[in-house]
Amino acid sequence: MPPSSDSLAESPVKSPGEAPLDLPSAATERARAKLAAGGRPYVTLKAAATLDGKIAMADGESRWITGEAARALAHDLRARHDGVLVGIGTVLRDDPALTVRLEGMNARPARIVLDSTCRITREARVLAGDGAARIVVAGEGAPPAAVEALRGAGVTVFVADTPRPRPAAFLPWLREQGLETLLVEGGGQVHGEFIANSEADELFLFLAGRLIGDAEAPAWCGPLGLKSLSETPRLKLSPPRRVGEDILVHGTFGGRPAEAPAETPKNPRTGGR
Ligand SMILES: NC(=O)c1ccc[n+]([C@@H]2O[C@H](COP(=O)([O-])OP(=O)(O)OC[C@H]3O[C@@H](n4cnc5c(N)ncnc54)[C@H](OP(=O)(O)O)[C@@H]3O)[C@@H](O)[C@H]2O)c1
Repeated sequence: MPPSSDSLAESPVKSPGEAPLDLPSAATERARAKLAAGGRPYVTLKAAATLDGKIAMADGESRWITGEAARALAHDLRARHDGVLVGIGTVLRDDPALTVRLEGMNARPARIVLDSTCRITREARVLAGDGAARIVVAGEGAPPAAVEALRGAGVTVFVADTPRPRPAAFLPWLREQGLETLLVEGGGQVHGEFIANSEADELFLFLAGRLIGDAEAPAWCGPLGLKSLSETPRLKLSPPRRVGEDILVHGTFGGRPAEAPAETPKNPRTGGR
């Protein structure tokens, strides 16, 4: 999916002015191993959240949770991936362009939307024809007329054989399209889907020193439906890093929950806590 030399009329974000986002060597090795296996792209999740893990207010307002430095690094992350993916919930609420808007950077990652029934409109900014590949991943119930209309507009449509497209079905297809690396930018339901299916390799979570404190506000990884701590997915965390006024939490997913320790010493005052 070659990039074009055209550029979108968007206001560029200032250059990050931060050290480059070098992948820790462990993640690089994991990425190489995954690609060598050939099955699917290396999957990185990215979100901007408050200290209580929220990515938006209950009414969906989310711009902007983090500061300019974190947003610039997020564009830098986009530029380093072959594709950027979001759910239709994010497209309908925020209408993101998903382009790289950094001075001096000309990357054009493919833009991908998970949209079971092709609710996306032709006017969505993510479908703008700037030379980047535009992909809608639909479900088996997508109206054929909507699929054809998108294809007629130059959008590639993958129709899965389940009502909702599952990562296990569309990730190998994306790899066949030439994508080696995929940046998943949310929202919470989509992040949750990748994590619940053990299809996430790495996380960049930008945390702002803010609190939303509302159970109705969406969290960055949606409901995972877990019953006990022993089931919780684990990440191997890098040292936290300050990015402007925010904190970057970076980690690699371990793949399966950590085993419970044989015996947990009890705090005599609290009975274990
Ligand atoms: N702060 C941040 O970093 C950030 C980033 C992104 C979004 N947001 C915020 O998050 C909110 C949107 O998040 P959201 O969770 O409501 O929506 P979302 O995750 O963007 O999209 C969810 C929708 O995607 C579709 N979908 C298709 N296949 C799916 C699959 N396999 N798994 C999960 N979903 C699938 C479903 O709709 P269909 O069944 O119709 O296909 C589902 O309702 C907005 O308020 C937005 O502003 C914040």
